[in-house]
Amino acid sequence: MKQLFERLQDVIASVYLYNEYTGYIELEKLLDVLHVKYPEERTFIQAVQKHCDDERKHYLMFRNYFKKRNRLPFDIGPTYGYVDLFILHVFKKPIEDLDREEILESDRRFFQLCRLIMMTEFRGMRQVDKLLKSPFIQKDSTLYRIFKVIERDEPSHCYPYQYWLKKSDTHLPRFQERITDLWIHYTLLLFKIPFLFLNPRVKRLEAFYA
Ligand SMILES: [Fe+2]
Ligand SMILES: [Fe+2]
Repeated sequence: MKQLFERLQDVIASVYLYNEYTGYIELEKLLDVLHVKYPEERTFIQAVQKHCDDERKHYLMFRNYFKKRNRLPFDIGPTYGYVDLFILHVFKKPIEDLDREEILESDRRFFQLCRLIMMTEFRGMRQVDKLLKSPFIQKDSTLYRIFKVIERDEPSHCYPYQYWLKKSDTHLPRFQERITDLWIHYTLLLFKIPFLFLNPRVKRLEAFYA
């Protein structure tokens, strides 16, 4: 029983670790774009910089969780990445093929990216709220503390994008993007995470991402 409990904790921590890592790497790229495309927008750039720093901090918290337990995370890839999947659905290409020039040249693409980040963060905020209420997380002081930090940071991640989109006079997420968000969320929750938990053949990483 204890082993199953720990496995489930590791599954959740692995999914978060991967997503926090991808989050901060992609935000570093977005910051590069912002510095070139909107260098005068200092407040927005500062907000994105804080967001990027927070995601890196979250990544390191999950990395410490595994280090403290002397284990490595499960080896999961882009199929468990919220932003990876969102980019695949919206931009029709894998995240690594999303090039900076394309985002720089097209306002439409840039706003799409902002909407996608905003939705990911709102989803994250709702998810953390549920996790903190679950006895499963409440029983583990380390995970509980990590999710409390995420809960505190999360609102400062969503609202700058929402504000920016409104200020730029473009629309907020529409039906298609909302459906994509729901699809990604529920396939993760109902199929992919249970699969990871139940499949004994899923390997662990040999080293941390960074
Ligand atoms: Fe995060
Ligand atoms: Fe976040």
